[in-house]
Amino acid sequence: MSNAFEAKGVVKHFGKVTALDGLSLKAEQGTVFGLLGPNGAGKTTLVRMLSTLLVPDKGTVKVLGIDAVRNSQRVREVIGLAGQYAAVDEFQTGYENIYMTGRLYRLSAQEAKRRAQELLERFELTEAANRPVRTYSGGMQRRLDLCASLIGRPKILFLDEPTNGLDPKTRIDLWNIIRELVSEGTSILLTTQYLEEADELANRIAVIDQGKVIAEGTSIQLKAQLGGDMVEFVLEKDADRPAALRAVRRFASKQPAFDETGLTISVPVTNHAKSLAGIAGALDRSRIRVSSFSLHQPSLDDVFLSLTGAATKDTNQNPQRETSHAAR
Ligand SMILES: Nc1ncnc2c1ncn2[C@@H]1O[C@H](COP(=O)(O)OP(=O)(O)OP(=O)(O)O)[C@@H](O)[C@H]1O
Ligand SMILES: [Mg+2]
Repeated sequence: MSNAFEAKGVVKHFGKVTALDGLSLKAEQGTVFGLLGPNGAGKTTLVRMLSTLLVPDKGTVKVLGIDAVRNSQRVREVIGLAGQYAAVDEFQTGYENIYMTGRLYRLSAQEAKRRAQELLERFELTEAANRPVRTYSGGMQRRLDLCASLIGRPKILFLDEPTNGLDPKTRIDLWNIIRELVSEGTSILLTTQYLEEADELANRIAVIDQGKVIAEGTSIQLKAQLGGDMVEFVLEKDADRPAALRAVRRFASKQPAFDETGLTISVPVTNHAKSLAGIAGALDRSRIRVSSFSLHQPSLDDVFLSLTGAATKDTNQNPQRETSHAAR
C-alpha cells in the first residue's frame, strides 16, 4: 500500500529564507500524522507543497504514491485542504460557499446540495447557513472552511492549525470529527501548536525546526526521549535543601535538580511505586516538611521545549500530574 504522503529531500527557498531544508517524511494511510514546530519552522510550506500549491526547489513530494508536481491534477482529486487561514468567500452565505466548492469538485447539483446540507449540519452551521459569511464569528468561519475541505470526500486531508482560535468545546467537537474521519479511512496530516491536540489525535508525530525534521515517533517515544518521570516536591524551608538532596539521592536514576527558587526539587525516577514511597519515607524520616509532592510525567510540551527551545501557545500549561499527596 502506498503511503498517505511522502516527502523526500525537499528543499524550498523563498529569497534568502530556506523554508524547507532537505526534509523527508512519510505517513501511513488511515492514520493521523502530527506535524509540530515553532513559528516559521516550515509546516505551512510543506502542507502547501503536498496540496500542490507550491513546487519544491529540490526533492519529491507524493500523495498516495502520486507525484504532486508531475500529476498535480490527480493529487487534487484525492485531497482536501483546510489552510491556516480560512479560505471562504465572505460575501456569500455559508451554504453558497460549500455548494460552490462541491460543484468545483464536480459533484452534481443535487449531490452538492445534499452534501452541503449534511456537512453544515455536522458542523452545527445549519442555522447560520443562509447568512453571509462576513457575519460569522472566527470559529464559525473555521468550521465552514472545514466543511469545504470535506465536500469532495478526500482520501487525504491536510489540516493546517485547524483548531487555532476555536473555543474548547468546538475544539473537542472537531477532534471527534477527526476521529470519525479516520475511522472511515481518511488519512490526516495535522499541524498544530496545541501539543495536547497532537497527543490526543496523532498516531505519529514529527517535530520540525528550520525546515528539518528534528524528532519523529509516537508521542510515547518522544516523551521517553526525555528520560522518564520525575518525582517533584516543594520544600517549606530553603535550609532543608542539602538534607533533602541527601535523603532522596539513592532513589534517583539521575542527579536530582532544584529550580531557581531552590525550593522545588525534581528527582528523576524509573520505578514509580518504589520511588514515590521511598522518597516520601526518606523525607519524613529526616523531618523535612514539604508543601507538595507529585509525580510528573513529561508532557509533549516538555519534549517540544527541550527540542526546539520554543514556547508554545498550549493552554494546557499543566503537564500530566498525578499528585500522590499534596498538602496545599
Ligand atoms: N511566500 C513566501 N515568501 C517568503 N517567505 C515565505 C513564504 N512562505 C513562507 N515563507 C518563510 O518560510 C519560513 C517557513 O514558513 P511557514 O509558513 O512554512 O512556517 P510555519 O511552520 O507554518 O509557521 P507558523 O507556525 O507561524 O504558521 C518562514 O521563515 C516564512 O517567513
Ligand atoms: Mg503555518
